[in-house]
Amino acid sequence: MFKRNKITIIGAGATGATTAHVMALKQMGDIVLLDVVPDVPNGKALDIWEAGPIERFSLKVTGTTDYELTRDSDVIVVTAGMPRKPGMSRDDLLKINADIVRQSVSQASKLSPNAILVILSNPADVMAYVAQKASGFPYHRVIGQAGVLDSARFRTFLADALQVSPKDVTAFVMGGHGDNMVPLVRYSSVGGIPVEKLLTQDTLDEIVQRTRTGGGEVLNLMKVSAYYAPASSLAEMVEAILKDERRVIPVISYLNGEYGEFDIFVGVPAIVGGNGIEKVLEVEFTNEEQEAFAKSVESVRKPLSLLNY
Ligand code: LAC
Repeated sequence: MFKRNKITIIGAGATGATTAHVMALKQMGDIVLLDVVPDVPNGKALDIWEAGPIERFSLKVTGTTDYELTRDSDVIVVTAGMPRKPGMSRDDLLKINADIVRQSVSQASKLSPNAILVILSNPADVMAYVAQKASGFPYHRVIGQAGVLDSARFRTFLADALQVSPKDVTAFVMGGHGDNMVPLVRYSSVGGIPVEKLLTQDTLDEIVQRTRTGGGEVLNLMKVSAYYAPASSLAEMVEAILKDERRVIPVISYLNGEYGEFDIFVGVPAIVGGNGIEKVLEVEFTNEEQEAFAKSVESVRKPLSLLNY
């Protein structure tokens, strides 16, 4: 018999709840929204579920503090953690969030041993590593979210500079999800035309810089970490998995020799489908890109060593 997909979202803060909302609107499956705080996940889930008759979705949205209700999930999305406050770097959250991710992933992964884990909690590259260790899942079933969001920001700014639809802008960002991330101008195009042919170097430099600090820009304005675009990014990744789309998207993946790196989770372009990460795609770098990527990888290794990994 056919069965509905089941998606667990751990963390019912603004990001988790918005993710549940976006996924419900996209009819992606039954959703369990879990948090340690009592009642709040229940209330948010109820509120989302009650839009069903209007938005015409038939799925169930459940809020809970009880991991038992997450049993047999197909995908587990982890958004739990302290959000970034203005003046805090993503690394400031390191130890607090490592504990939260370790605890929640070890509980949830036992009840859904075949699930795919999608990690958003910051610093996301490091938390993906923590989640893999805590679950013991094969590497291809642990994916961090950063690249879809960072690339969406990059694409938004490119589209705006060109006054064209962002739908026609293809671009990707590699490296760690921090201010050293590597937006790759050379691999970015609009309707197949390289952006380098359409925009000046100065404009491109500005866009690259704005992309790198895109999370901080929203944070400084809202005084809380971004959640609308992060929620859409999570939904896009989970859809690629549940529909076995084999999308080519930038994700935080374990590297075992790809790009010359070992034993680290960091942002790279990959094929994402029903098995999680189907394949990491290796693109050629110029010397400058190679240097930027190495620097970005280094900024992920440092916090990992602070956690004694
Ligand atoms: C951001 C957070 C999600 O980039 O890291 O907005």
